[in-house]
Amino acid sequence: MGGSGIVKVFRFDPEKDKSSRFDTFKDIPYEGRRVTDVLNYIYQNLDSTIAFRYSCRAGLCGVCILKVNGKPCMSCHRVAEKEMVIEPPVQYAVIKDLVVDFQKKVKAKKTEKE
Ligand code: FES
Repeated sequence: MGGSGIVKVFRFDPEKDKSSRFDTFKDIPYEGRRVTDVLNYIYQNLDSTIAFRYSCRAGLCGVCILKVNGKPCMSCHRVAEKEMVIEPPVQYAVIKDLVVDFQKKVKAKKTEKE
């Protein structure tokens, strides 16, 4: 293992923020890791305010669904890449950062400014 990557993470707290943003984290170990591992690394070492969720870590329960580099995936199953943009799934209302309300569907809109 080795190598480090750059990760942009969607951030939004509806109780505090007027609009969403992306925070960029550099020098993130990614080789041999899943996206959930990368988020855990960021949470444990760089920013413990980041909100995301997972449960089974086996690709079975579906609570870890996210959008990574524009494509939906189970983050516990998806292999991490050197450069990643991590966003919540677009069809659900954001509770905080990468955590969504699976009971509240919203109209999909583009969130990443490219
Ligand atoms: S944590 Fe259950 S599918 Fe990813």
